[in-house]
Amino acid sequence: MMLKPSHHVIVGLEIGTTKICAVVGRLQAEGVLNVVGVGQCRSRGVRKGEIVDFKAATEDIRRALAEAEDMANLEIKSVFLGVTGAHVAGFNNRGRVHLPHGEREITESDVQEVVRNARTLNLPAGRDVLHLIRQHFIVDGRSGVTKPVEMEGEQLELDVHVVHGMTSRLQLPIKAARSLQIDVEEVVFNGIASSLAVLSNQEKDLGALVIDLGAGVTEYAVYSERVVKHTGVIAVGGDHVTNDLAYGLKVPMSRAEALKIEHGSALMAPEVRGRTLRLPSETGLPDRTVNLEHLHRIMSLRLEETFQIIAEDLERTGLLDYLRAGVVLCGGGSRVPGIHRLAERVFGLPASTGRTRAISGLVATLDQPEFATGIGLVRFGSFHLGRTRRNTGLASRIARTLGGIFQTS
Ligand SMILES: Nc1ncnc2c1ncn2[C@@H]1O[C@H](COP(=O)(O)OP(=O)(O)OP(=O)(O)O)[C@@H](O)[C@H]1O
Ligand SMILES: [Mg+2]
Repeated sequence: MMLKPSHHVIVGLEIGTTKICAVVGRLQAEGVLNVVGVGQCRSRGVRKGEIVDFKAATEDIRRALAEAEDMANLEIKSVFLGVTGAHVAGFNNRGRVHLPHGEREITESDVQEVVRNARTLNLPAGRDVLHLIRQHFIVDGRSGVTKPVEMEGEQLELDVHVVHGMTSRLQLPIKAARSLQIDVEEVVFNGIASSLAVLSNQEKDLGALVIDLGAGVTEYAVYSERVVKHTGVIAVGGDHVTNDLAYGLKVPMSRAEALKIEHGSALMAPEVRGRTLRLPSETGLPDRTVNLEHLHRIMSLRLEETFQIIAEDLERTGLLDYLRAGVVLCGGGSRVPGIHRLAERVFGLPASTGRTRAISGLVATLDQPEFATGIGLVRFGSFHLGRTRRNTGLASRIARTLGGIFQTS
């Protein structure tokens, strides 16, 4: 018999380009988060992180959820839904209120007003806020204030990081979940979710850049002084690497993908110079060989370019100098041998693979870099449990109104 989900059950759903992944977490009384189930399905209806074939994607989601339900032995009613795509973007905004009577203590209602003010954004039409993340308060020009209540001042400001996306494109994954009678509790940018899975509080304090190298998209998030300072996404991922290999080595996509996984490298090591690989012959075609150095060159060029796009974006923000915990990689692309050394070279920072160990009870197969988003969604859910269970129905509100509905702060 299936158990009814208790309100301590949190499900993360990533509708990825290569896999749909549902992770079931259970929040124990002591606040410990246990992963009790996972379901996975090969994804057929997603390109560059967005649904392109609604029917196929919905069917795959259904299968992943059913598998997760079986393993966790409960019925999934709602999910924290990961979203991504080239349309998602982040920027920083500042809210400001002048305190009316000169020098007096700041109150809770002043704080609420400055939050409202920071939320007043000039987003282009057709866009919605996904996250409004508080960074820090500023009281009479003094920055870095975390709790302004009871301080004295004449002006209260709040810096926030805003993640937004195109409403029409955010609706599709919600619609897919709802068509399966699954409520969406909250919509979460995959880059934020992954960072929650792989970063410790200490790393967030020291400053870190998390890069999730997926198949269709690469998301990134920058933390410093424990808060999100910057987010971004580029519509380039492992599929592009495979594509480049298929084109450059003149092999079919399926063979290029296999070559990438079995013989790939993000660096060009001198020892591979002149080495070749013999490919098993395909029906009716003569035997072929592939130059390993060529293979590595194609991969390293694409991966280096991907990192460089991110590095250039970060250079504009001036944040690169504040990342004392370095670069943390996750996503399937972080499995490419040599990828850390390449990241170290491009960013001039130490790089490592993110571990999702911060959650206990991990099903062994889940402690892999491509599950960072799914696990991070569960983690996000655990942070927002109290709040979201009160209001719920985000997806139904989306259906009714198309504006300003994703705020999470
Ligand atoms: N050992 C490996 N070497 C190289 N690439 C790998 C390896 N393992 C997985 N990948 C690549 O990782 C990608 C899949 O990663 P992941 O599961 O994180 O993507 P996704 O979440 O489905 O996609 P996205 O987040 O872009 O929507 C694929 O491009 C795959 O080729
Ligand atoms: Mg992904």
